Amino acid sequence: MRKNQTSMTAIGIAIVRGIESEKPEGERICYDPYARQFTGGFLYNFVRFFDKLGYSERKGPGVMGFLTVRERHIDEFLKGQLQAGAGQVVILGAGLDARAYRFDELKKIRVFEVDHPASQASKKEKVKRIFGELPAHVTYVSIDFNLESLEQRLTESDYDKSLKTLFIWQGVTQYLMPEAVDSTLAFIARHSPAGSSVIFDYMYPTLLDGTIKRGEVNNMRSKRWASGEMLVFGIPEGTATAYLEQRGFIDVKDADSKFLHDAYFHGKNASRTVAHGYAIASAMVK
Ligand SMILES: C[S@@+](CC[C@H](N)C(=O)[O-])C[C@H]1O[C@@H](n2cnc3c(N)ncnc32)[C@H](O)[C@@H]1O
Repeated sequence: MRKNQTSMTAIGIAIVRGIESEKPEGERICYDPYARQFTGGFLYNFVRFFDKLGYSERKGPGVMGFLTVRERHIDEFLKGQLQAGAGQVVILGAGLDARAYRFDELKKIRVFEVDHPASQASKKEKVKRIFGELPAHVTYVSIDFNLESLEQRLTESDYDKSLKTLFIWQGVTQYLMPEAVDSTLAFIARHSPAGSSVIFDYMYPTLLDGTIKRGEVNNMRSKRWASGEMLVFGIPEGTATAYLEQRGFIDVKDADSKFLHDAYFHGKNASRTVAHGYAIASAMVK
């Protein structure tokens, strides 16, 4: 990412959440009442207009579907981990993620929003505008994952190594160097107690290297001069369990596009698709 540039992809993803959230309660897959306020008027309406014309689905079939079920799948995991006693939540590459503000249960514990300094500065301005102030239960930690260690940045904050912790890493790993993904996972495995957990989505390298040709990937590549967010990291299909076990995790669940479709797209949503090549892994700390 560029030093002074807020994440464009974070805005795009929040717009997708906002569009889904406009649907009736029984139909929408995820609900983020703040997404629209976080993204502002013109761009939101522009993307929404073209989405209604079917442009997003033509450009990247199943991508809106993936982004929607990803939000829901991670919400479900979060609820499960809170019930299982998670005492703090760390949101890595938080962007415009609104979980800290839309889950009442999270207001009773500490939430860490960890993000690139430029993205975080603009998020904090938006939070102040929407809620009047920065909420006391959120600690904002700035980091460049490719240049700084999570260990240093979190241990300088009020992160409590003794609490069972959930780490959410949504929509970020593909932009990082493999070493940055490794060191972040190593921090989680070493500095959170047994029963802590991590959930993150990732792409298959066959998408990144163009073996599988997809419009939205070409689009992201051609726009990287503007966004500064390069597509770098992937995990080969079917290998996430071994990848995480080698890094000290247990009870790995690897949710691929078929699993996610079958879990969330029923009834009115049955004809929606989830793009192949995107998956979500979750695991527990031993
Ligand atoms: C696609 S957005 C996802 C935002 C949010 N997690 C969501 O799902 O709505 C990618 C996020 O990763 C962050 N990011 C990308 N590269 C980063 C880096 N090298 N260091 C820190 N954060 C980074 C961006 O600032 C941005 O917030």
